[in-house]
Amino acid sequence: MSKMAQDFKAINLSQGFPDFEISSELQDLVTTYMRRGFNQYAPMPGVPDLLNSISRKITNTYGINVNPENEITVTAGATEALYASIAAMVRPGDEVLILEPAYDAYVPAIRLNGGIPVLVPMEVPDFTIDWQRVALQINKRTRLIIINTPHNPTGTILRHSDLSALSEITEKYGIYVLSDEVYEHIIFDDEAHQSVLKYPGLRERSIAVYSFGKTFHATGWKVGYSVASAPLTTEIKKVHQFLTFSVNTPVQYALAAFLDNEKNYQGLHKFFQEKRDYFLQQMEASRFEPVPSKGTYFQLFSYRNYGTTPDREMAEWLTREVGVAAIPISVFYQDKTDNHYLRFCFAKDNQTLQKGARLLCGI
Ligand SMILES: Cc1ncc(COP(=O)(O)O)c(C=O)c1O
Repeated sequence: MSKMAQDFKAINLSQGFPDFEISSELQDLVTTYMRRGFNQYAPMPGVPDLLNSISRKITNTYGINVNPENEITVTAGATEALYASIAAMVRPGDEVLILEPAYDAYVPAIRLNGGIPVLVPMEVPDFTIDWQRVALQINKRTRLIIINTPHNPTGTILRHSDLSALSEITEKYGIYVLSDEVYEHIIFDDEAHQSVLKYPGLRERSIAVYSFGKTFHATGWKVGYSVASAPLTTEIKKVHQFLTFSVNTPVQYALAAFLDNEKNYQGLHKFFQEKRDYFLQQMEASRFEPVPSKGTYFQLFSYRNYGTTPDREMAEWLTREVGVAAIPISVFYQDKTDNHYLRFCFAKDNQTLQKGARLLCGI
């Protein structure tokens, strides 16, 4: 859709990346560390300064201790952390539960490792999870369940009751959890992010995955990390060693220094909540129906008031004829289930959001 937006000069509210600058302090820090000569290979799991900063951040945010020496792996974006985790956990014939709609990196990674994705739909129209339905899919081949909160593409979040249900299931059936938490700091309306790390029952059976790209508006840097118990981290590192070995050194040092100031990430929810509210307010005059966005920088809309055109066609038509690009939700389902929803990214400056909304209101 980004390519199509470019071709048709449409306002691009499709792909999930911010269109504003990253912190100048963070840019300066990278330059500083490059000039100081931190330009050679970093240690395989990450530079110690960054591992320590991540550990302190997790204590500040979730009140738990994570050992920087053997429970964290710095990776080339959350994407590598997800892949390394799946490759470490999944053997040929293992089943992996995925809740759909799902971010597109999970299924191919499972298949490449010989695993079998078992797809469980979230409940439409509010995209909640029926945990009984999930439990019914578990058998002795089930190895792992992948969750994602706040959730891309729907903007929904998991609550305490969800994590309690998940905890019960994992204990009962002895399965593991891969928790994609890249939007941990982008959560709205005074809700608290429910990390698997906060739940003692889940902590030992889970890998949590994070992305500096999302937290610091720098998706192009591709730096993320995984957090898991020492035995699981040992396995993740065995894969990471031969995928990338290590990650960009000066950027790691810069992130370590930047992360030590809580203000650099604690205000993120407020910043994006204002964007969400602004976009929704600009869209009020349209007949698009919003699904409440509780986190991420995505807003889902149903376009059923405009008809039942397949969502891919609708997205292409909007880009071509209206001048706004969005993502059809059917692409997040393996069987291309189409409930007539589109995803719009509101990590854009207000002028762009206003222009996009104005065009959409004119339909
Ligand atoms: C849910 C989710 N997980 C993982 C990623 C990938 O993160 P990274 O860019 O750090 O690889 C994204 C990026 O859009 C995402 O939305």
